[in-house]
Amino acid sequence: MAAKIDWNNLGFDYIKTNANIRCRFDGKKWSQLAITDDEYIHMHIATMGLHYGIMAFEGLKAFRGVDGKVRLFRAADNARRFQSSAYKLCLEPMPTDVFVEACVRLVKENIDFVPPYESGASLYVRPLMYGSQIAIGVHRCPEVDIIFFASPVGPYFKGGMHLIKVVIDRMQDRAAPRGTGDIKAGGNYASSLLSGEKAHEMGYDNVMYLDAAQHRFIEECGAANFFGIKNGTYVTPASPSILPSVTNDSLRTLAHDMGLNVEQRPVTVEELKTFEEAGACGTAAVISPIGSIYDIDTQEYIDYGKKIGPVSLALYNALRDIQYGRAEDKHNWCIIVE
Ligand code: PLP
Ligand code: COI
Repeated sequence: MAAKIDWNNLGFDYIKTNANIRCRFDGKKWSQLAITDDEYIHMHIATMGLHYGIMAFEGLKAFRGVDGKVRLFRAADNARRFQSSAYKLCLEPMPTDVFVEACVRLVKENIDFVPPYESGASLYVRPLMYGSQIAIGVHRCPEVDIIFFASPVGPYFKGGMHLIKVVIDRMQDRAAPRGTGDIKAGGNYASSLLSGEKAHEMGYDNVMYLDAAQHRFIEECGAANFFGIKNGTYVTPASPSILPSVTNDSLRTLAHDMGLNVEQRPVTVEELKTFEEAGACGTAAVISPIGSIYDIDTQEYIDYGKKIGPVSLALYNALRDIQYGRAEDKHNWCIIVE
């Protein structure tokens, strides 16, 4: 029951809501969207998605604004990324309008679970698809099952917006240059889990993943993109194995609106020490400013200071202002759900 939730102390955890939405492609056509309160999937033991990792997911958020309205952020962009994930996994892509309709209906069904404005929390929407044909061979999977569920969430990193400690560890590569790093395949998270756990055990918040070919370039900061600020410029890495983050795209636009230069290009490990500010960005992470980066192999330590940098803070506020309806939505990013 939504009434029992302690909105001000939410973490990034699953909380049961009223309903989730199911949809299925049977090899020929999409089913209608079906609303259910069943939290479980009854799955055949030979379901292809389970064996061969033919699955991908998305993450987006809905916010209760200062005006009481509920806004869903950039759903069509997540729909397009869901389609590119489907394409790379040889699954049928869900049309944008159906994806957006499913997200809007999901938020409406769970409107009591959209946290109050004052809490600074949000409703996380998790679309999930998997190849659902029953087979043992490895081949294209013509049947797809899609689930949209939601959970009210607070900050991704424990303790809210604070400077995070990042470690560069070359023990695991997140994704190969021609692999699946640019889509939201579950396997990317599985393949980088061990180094993430090691980092947590060592007291770090996140691992900085480097490019798998040379281990010279910055790829991602855990489950978030990386950005650095220097000389009035917003710099973020470009690479074929980085997930194109919707948040990063928004920040590049907002940075440009603020009069900053924007550069998306390869960023070397050596360049890290030249940034005045650094951060991780993503739907879950929002902007998580980076306080320090330690390189396990070279033992180099970069300290970005004890305070959140002014540009990171201005970008954070500009993004939050649009999401919470405090500023004009100049780029038409939000859908007003209710
Ligand atoms: N990179 C990875 C690996 C992620 O899992 C995420 C989270 O979605 C992001 C970046 C940030 O992407 P977005 O801003 O679209 O949530
Ligand atoms: C997101 O930011 O939406 C993510 O998917 C990150 C993570 C929880 C995997």
